[in-house]
Amino acid sequence: MSKLEVLNPSTNEVIKTLDYTTDEEVNTLVDRAYDAFQTWRNVDAHERSELISKWSALIKEHRDELARLITLEGGKPFPEAQGEVDYAVAYVDWYAGEAKRIYGRTVPANTPDKKIIIDQFPVGVVGAITPWNFPAAMITRKMAPALAAGCTIICKPATRTPLTTIRLVELAHEAGIPEDVVSYIIAGGKDAGNYFTQNEKVRKVTFTGSTPVGRKLISLSSDHVKNITMELGGLAPLIVHKDADIDHAVEQTVATKFRNAGQTCVCANRIYVHEDIADEYEEKLIKAVHELKVGDGFDEGVKIGPLINEKGVEKVLDHIDDAVKHGGKLSRPLEEVKMGGNFLKPVVITNANQDMKAMHEETFGPVAPVMRYSDLDDAIRYSNDTEFGLAGYFFTNDYRTGLYIYNNLNYGVIGWNDGLPSAAHAPFGGMKESGYGREGGKEGIEPYLETKYLSVGLK
Ligand code: SIN
Repeated sequence: MSKLEVLNPSTNEVIKTLDYTTDEEVNTLVDRAYDAFQTWRNVDAHERSELISKWSALIKEHRDELARLITLEGGKPFPEAQGEVDYAVAYVDWYAGEAKRIYGRTVPANTPDKKIIIDQFPVGVVGAITPWNFPAAMITRKMAPALAAGCTIICKPATRTPLTTIRLVELAHEAGIPEDVVSYIIAGGKDAGNYFTQNEKVRKVTFTGSTPVGRKLISLSSDHVKNITMELGGLAPLIVHKDADIDHAVEQTVATKFRNAGQTCVCANRIYVHEDIADEYEEKLIKAVHELKVGDGFDEGVKIGPLINEKGVEKVLDHIDDAVKHGGKLSRPLEEVKMGGNFLKPVVITNANQDMKAMHEETFGPVAPVMRYSDLDDAIRYSNDTEFGLAGYFFTNDYRTGLYIYNNLNYGVIGWNDGLPSAAHAPFGGMKESGYGREGGKEGIEPYLETKYLSVGLK
């Protein structure tokens, strides 16, 4: 049987070796999840809510253990990993509550001898595929609403970061959630995509990851017309208008751009700054960025850990190289940026323009290209000129300008003077090729529910 080696991206050393789940084992897990669904869907909402709350309590109790796993397998600085556990458990808490708020409604009929009742039911067995950049939060925001809705779920964590998910599933079992209600498989993305989309007993596929993989899953899901949720790639623009609070804009730019070393789907990928304030903004941004300490996620004061692997590093270096070829100016020499291994020092690229790859492809790394504009409509046009529509940011202290930008940016998640808008209580998700469906908030349970309508004849 082939084995999966889980690596520490800081050292490229093997942390753990796991067996891949065999085809036969996957089919058995799906059968079990299918059988368990017939029971779990009928567990009353208050009991489901209570079990999910117990799971939340255990996650909180094991906060540092989980954070250590995240740092070990994902490279994220330990305090940031602790923050991710808090973010992950916020979804669990939120959906423990939502389990009790799955409402139906009645609608007046068009004749006195009928009554119309509308109700919501769990979709069934869910297959969840999650990425490596948030090994805890991306799975809890699928597991928690699925369980709250009465679905059973099989998790497929990224092969680079499976250990956090395994622990989260174990804690769910310790909390009393039955083993067949929530389980996990160790599989490559392609295999998992086939398992979940081709097995008729899996009714829903939920995926967070790249747009090309999402496209494939959407197409495979059509074979059995699955219910799907897709949280795909982004290319977040960040606009700093001339009336912005520059210090605040710089602080928030650093927060959004360098979170997880720039490896999130909502990291600002490209920055548009008004020419009147560009000198001051760039100078302050470069200063703040050069202060960010890079190193092993367990070292004191580290703000930027390693990238996930060599391929990630190569992509970022390619974007830097391309930017320089298109006239970009690096805030520090390239030799300084390349630290060896999977480590890169963060860098600002000034004099950026729309021809650069970094302005129209997801970089997923610690690079901040800054382009100047004179007309706000141009900045909005550049921002929208992409197939992606996940997150966008802007900074202005004028409410008319702010509402104008908000109304005209085609993005699902928008931060106005806010670089960190993601929250368990708000709907997260994208427009256009960034996918569909929302996670978080009251919207985040809807993808796990189906609407049924009953017309009662009263004669
Ligand atoms: C992501 O990178 O896909 C998620 C980021 C977030 O939840 O803020």
